[in-house]
Amino acid sequence: MAELSVEHTPATLGAVVTGARLPDLTEAQWRRVETAFNNRAVLIFPGQWLSVAEQMDFGRRFGELSIAAQPLGNEREDGALREPDDPVMRLLRGNEDWHTDSSFRRLSAKASILSASKVPERGGETEWADMAAAYDALSPALRSRIDGLCAYHSLRQSQARVGQAAQDVIDALVQLRAAAPGGTDTANGDPGPDGQGDGKPPLRPLVKTHPVTGRRALFVGRHACGIPGLAAEESAGLLADLMDFACRPPRVLAHRWQPGDTVIWDNRRVLHRSRPWPPAERRVMCHTRVDGDAATELAAA
Ligand code: OGA
Ligand code: MN
Repeated sequence: MAELSVEHTPATLGAVVTGARLPDLTEAQWRRVETAFNNRAVLIFPGQWLSVAEQMDFGRRFGELSIAAQPLGNEREDGALREPDDPVMRLLRGNEDWHTDSSFRRLSAKASILSASKVPERGGETEWADMAAAYDALSPALRSRIDGLCAYHSLRQSQARVGQAAQDVIDALVQLRAAAPGGTDTANGDPGPDGQGDGKPPLRPLVKTHPVTGRRALFVGRHACGIPGLAAEESAGLLADLMDFACRPPRVLAHRWQPGDTVIWDNRRVLHRSRPWPPAERRVMCHTRVDGDAATELAAA
């Protein structure tokens, strides 16, 4: 049997894991994968070719699924390409800005899993940025400036910034959820973009302490908006400055997908985004999302 290999990338985050199929991990291999997840935040598993059931089973090792298995891409269920003004395409365009998954929900996500089935010839990479390393690299002055600050997180607001109206966001979420039944996001029947149906954006501290490693990390991204206590312009400027500083080498990792690849990332520590690709080319992924822990991922208000 091949040895499980965990090879760190040159960036501050990420490892490439080979030598085992995820559905067949031994207990000892699983412990190494879990440790690597906590230490490296992004694990790339080339050539896994997971079935939908296998992907969900892998996700359940990390916790309860909020999204069971979501087909995500520019191909409709009937095989046609989505038009640029398709509500789902607008959501995908939004995902080209740095974000952390479900930060606009009361309970933000612990982990997300993405597998590739169809990939474009060029573009369509996914990138991750290490917010723990970013926090460590902040100046003491900036650290003390953000200490104690919070921001609202809103999908309505982040999609408005890429030109999508609120009702169009709801249409996209309803479409996506119809294609991916089974997670808690679907079970609560909530198509609202913010909060949990009440439309109230949750408030989250700008600095998050990781529940396992105890490391502090910036918790920002495209959904973050409006820091209470700061004027709108000052708040927008601070959030933009933090993002600009944080999402730079050596804190950024890019993955160029091959069909069959699976990646899992820790939403409590990293931001991620997709890169653009030629619209006439197909990119089809499958997304599974693991709920955060209520003790540590519930909004402050
Ligand atoms: C996601 C996401 C980026 C990508 O699945 O949550 O943001 O590259 N994906 O598809
Ligand atoms: Mn995402």
